Amino acid sequence: MKRPTFARIANRGLGRIEQATLLDKPGYAAETAMARPAQIVGSPAEKAGNALHGTWYGHPIHPMLVTLPIGAWTFAFGLDLLSMLGFRRKGAERSAELAIKAGAAGAVAAAAAGLADWQHTNGRDRRIGTVHALANGTALALHLASVSLRNRGDLDRGRLASAAGWACMLVGGYLGGHMVYRRRIGVDHADRSPEPRDFQPVLPLAELQEGRPRRVDIRDEDTRQEIGVVLVRQGARVHAMGARCSHMGGPLDQGWILNGALVCPWHGSRYDLETGWPTSGPSTCPQPRYAVRLRDGMVEIRREEEPGDEVVTAAKAGGKPARAPAPPASSAGAGRKADEVLFEHHQLIRRLFQAIRNTPRDDPQRRDLMRTLASELEIHEYVEDHVFYPAVHPVSEDVPIAHSEHRQLSDLLAKTLKLNTATPEFEEHLRALHAAMDHHASSEENSMFLEAQRLGDARLREMGRTLEELLEEQRTSRAQRLFRDLKIRLLEGL
Ligand code: FES
Ligand SMILES: [Fe+2]
Ligand SMILES: [Fe+2]
Repeated sequence: MKRPTFARIANRGLGRIEQATLLDKPGYAAETAMARPAQIVGSPAEKAGNALHGTWYGHPIHPMLVTLPIGAWTFAFGLDLLSMLGFRRKGAERSAELAIKAGAAGAVAAAAAGLADWQHTNGRDRRIGTVHALANGTALALHLASVSLRNRGDLDRGRLASAAGWACMLVGGYLGGHMVYRRRIGVDHADRSPEPRDFQPVLPLAELQEGRPRRVDIRDEDTRQEIGVVLVRQGARVHAMGARCSHMGGPLDQGWILNGALVCPWHGSRYDLETGWPTSGPSTCPQPRYAVRLRDGMVEIRREEEPGDEVVTAAKAGGKPARAPAPPASSAGAGRKADEVLFEHHQLIRRLFQAIRNTPRDDPQRRDLMRTLASELEIHEYVEDHVFYPAVHPVSEDVPIAHSEHRQLSDLLAKTLKLNTATPEFEEHLRALHAAMDHHASSEENSMFLEAQRLGDARLREMGRTLEELLEEQRTSRAQRLFRDLKIRLLEGL
């Protein structure tokens, strides 16, 4: 598949900038020139630095401040453009000039915050940051020149200067986007695994030295990753927070203690041991925190919830604390559990895939089978979205990704339905759809259905009944069938 032209060219340009080592010398000289006075001033400069990073704000403030020049200068550019096209309005020139001045004030504030953040970048990130600053600095200079030209009555050249400045701002904005979205500058780098959800022994207390950070690892089975946690002993207390610094991923276990805070060895952010919040930047984001208890000479930790977390705990689930490894299996008598009903439906869908793949390409029955499959998939997603997922949501973190997978399945189904069932292209799409469905169903069976056991047997059986009724209703209701068929025909392209 061809890469998009603009992205390809931009990528090449970005690569060149990232390799431009000639930017390093002036970059480091500029950093030193900024750092020295701050070091001389001491604490007030540190406070100013924290204010500019956004340590008080919980996010970097640079992205918020750049909205001012972007908005104001774009407004001015629009007014100029309209005037040049003949849509003259009284006061438009004055408004454009005011907008340019307001944008310039915002740009100065954004530059100050950006420079504070830039000082803590290195290598290719710093080079991109340097060019980003140069582009935006040029944009600012051109807008200021525009104001001066306008004041001298040279409106045409004034407009030209601000239009050129606006174009520079776009380039600067693109580079800024690259720094955040690709290079991940300013985003949270901490590991925010919800594990361990219940207290888990991690280290004998005797092995933890006073004031010496020590890393332990816990396992997150969902992401199949080891998550580092740093333990710090202070007298009778043991504190625990994520070992990966939220600023840029520095190893906090290799840091040190200063004034009751854990210092990151990379850029010196200080995290309060009690709360995990940065008391000094450049970090703006709190570390993941863990509750600690001491049992039988062992340090035990449990992940602390954060606002907005959907962490699954035994208390929330109201059921067993651990995952019940009960595979979906039929159970006679008391009605089937929700996961058993869905598992059976997965099997039906898998058989339909097999039937289509076993049907000769030119057999018209393929199209009918495809419609049945589309219908069953739609019903399946409907009952899960409306009954199963909402119920399981408090006890499983798989629900958001399952919703995304449903969306992906329906997108892929829509593409497949449009194809002639006798073509190789259809075969390819069918294979992809089959693989996507199998992945989704298997992850439900191997993870979400197990987590659902926390809801308890009675609840699952009650839900199983609801699901069976809904499946029946979806299949037999004339209105539902007509509606579904119409949708499938529309997707096929009538
Ligand atoms: S990685 Fe930058 S302060 Fe920790
Ligand atoms: Fe599903
Ligand atoms: Fe499912």
